[in-house]
Amino acid sequence: MSHAPLGSVDGARGAVPPPQEFVARSRYADPGVYDEAEADWVGWWEHQAHALAWTRPWDEPLAWDPPFARWFVGGRLNASVSCLDRHVEAGHGGQVAYHWVGEPGDRRDLTYAELAKQVGRLANALRGLGVARGDRVAIYLPMVPELVVAMLACARIGAPHSVVYAGFGAQALADRLVDAEAKVLITADGAHRRGEVLPLKRVADVAMGAAESVRACLVVRRTNSDVRLMPGRDAWYDEVVGQASPTCEPEAMDAEDPLFLLYTSGTTGTPKGIVHRTGGYLTHVAATHRMVFDHDPDRDVFWCAVNFGWITGHSYGVYGPLANRATSVLAEGALDHPSPDRAWRIAELDGVTTLYTTPAIIRAFRAAGEDRPAAHDLSSLRLLGSVGEPIEPEVWRWYHEAVGGGRCPIVDTWWQAETGGMMLSPLPAITEAKPGSAMRPLPGIEASVVDDEGAAVERGQAGHLTVPRPWPGMLQTIWGDDERYRRTYWSRFGDEVYATGDRARVDDDGDLWLLGRDDEVLKVAGHRLSSAELEAAIVDHRAVAEAAVAGRADPLVGHAIVAFVRLRPGYDADPARVAQLREHVAARFGAIARPETIVVVDDLPKTRAGTIMRRLLEDLAEGRAPGDTSALDDPDLVAHLVEATAEATGRR
Ligand code: PRX
Repeated sequence: MSHAPLGSVDGARGAVPPPQEFVARSRYADPGVYDEAEADWVGWWEHQAHALAWTRPWDEPLAWDPPFARWFVGGRLNASVSCLDRHVEAGHGGQVAYHWVGEPGDRRDLTYAELAKQVGRLANALRGLGVARGDRVAIYLPMVPELVVAMLACARIGAPHSVVYAGFGAQALADRLVDAEAKVLITADGAHRRGEVLPLKRVADVAMGAAESVRACLVVRRTNSDVRLMPGRDAWYDEVVGQASPTCEPEAMDAEDPLFLLYTSGTTGTPKGIVHRTGGYLTHVAATHRMVFDHDPDRDVFWCAVNFGWITGHSYGVYGPLANRATSVLAEGALDHPSPDRAWRIAELDGVTTLYTTPAIIRAFRAAGEDRPAAHDLSSLRLLGSVGEPIEPEVWRWYHEAVGGGRCPIVDTWWQAETGGMMLSPLPAITEAKPGSAMRPLPGIEASVVDDEGAAVERGQAGHLTVPRPWPGMLQTIWGDDERYRRTYWSRFGDEVYATGDRARVDDDGDLWLLGRDDEVLKVAGHRLSSAELEAAIVDHRAVAEAAVAGRADPLVGHAIVAFVRLRPGYDADPARVAQLREHVAARFGAIARPETIVVVDDLPKTRAGTIMRRLLEDLAEGRAPGDTSALDDPDLVAHLVEATAEATGRR
């Protein structure tokens, strides 16, 4: 499931050194940082941890009982104190934490002092609803300030939050509420999205119907949509919070207490609740936000332009920037609506210095007009970042020239929901970046590309990307399933080596080029979806007997979903049926999961062992001639599959 090979630009050819002017103003321009960190990597992370506010020092920096690690053992802290209180106490209460921009064009600036008060109020309100330390709170909100407030309020009272992307449908939300046994759900009446209103509360009602654990639901007013409040369970957010005191005593959390859960797609139909701990996670995201973005709180305006329902928003939209007292932009809705220039207007108006987003969004910007950024004064920009997928060298160069005016370094940061924070990335004042390469492990991190037996590959070779030692942002476990944690990440190469599930190539200089996933995880417009979850959503339709999905590499969205479907007897494969199936998936799972193409087939290609031959489906989805199909149980099926795919693609 790899993208078109990106490794074609090799060696130092095309490498872009950091501009002198950038280096001169950088706080992290000393290349000695790599050796310094490597000489005592645990001590180096300890040093980073000192940048947070602790109420009790740790006794031991790391206890490693593979594959379980404990970081900063015995230490106590509260993430909301490191992110808010200490900045206010140091006299920065009046500094803007977020310039918020709503999709319809409304704006609101939120200072650190105001954010702290709102967090205190909601934290008290949650306690009033019976939420105790350790209880889970689900958050299903659009990109409104209350989303950040809710995350921090949970952190304040030690209730792990589980943010669910507001584009997900009822089934996806219900699965996540049930798995986490969430006690409270915070949602909104609706969400603005490209001029339309998504009926969030109505989706939440369906999901809550299937999730008995949810006792209370707070509803933020955003779109003035008509919603039904169930007596005894639902209440308006502003009414409950308005009555609460802004002062709330923070829970003294153990460094190892979970800060949040974030569900992510794996290779089976059940999403995994990735658990992140308090002390290690916050240390990692704060340190990497500071170094990789060369962040200066008195100079920079930082914009993490992604939806905060995903890990990037948690780490570099909320926790990292707030721990570093950043002023950030928080934008609701699509960045190219109502005008394709919306992002550039925001960057101009708010004086954004650092823009961090996904290749999918960068490609969409470019498709909207190569020269559009030139119509705006983007001279405030000094640094650009990319995350979530490999960035094609030509897209990198466009980002560099058209958006960054040739003067802004680009940090291509590789990491995962599981790693908590960045793992591979250039350092902007040090690294000569190669367009399309995430370059090297960050200081304090180790990575290794290995063959099937776990031996490091030679330069010039590709293999599995692994992380052969613990790091502070690493997931603690999978919620409620230590065994799945061990099996998924720490068994392929033994229990001391983290298997990322990605493939990478090491070039002649030792720099790393990501080649895509080893498994059936798709990236659709930067969002991680698993084939198995999508298949479950399709098969759930009464007309469907069996389904398998494959990704077609798409120049804009990364992967477009192609679903191969066998219908039950008595159901016809007419266009109306196909349209109905596409909508069914969108309603259950969310619009991002709507298949681009549905190919109705007589049977799915299976091997004699009964497993679906995914490689063949990928070939079909890509319009390639099928490779070796000799292992198929029914070799005669191939001609039919090719024909059915051509027909369905023609209809697309
Ligand atoms: O395949 C890698 C890809 O995104 C996966 C992780 O997805 P998720 O957990 O949703 O986190 C995305 C944001 C951190 C990885 O296994 N990926 C992430 N960053 C890059 C990348 N692939 C290539 N280059 C990157 N910079």
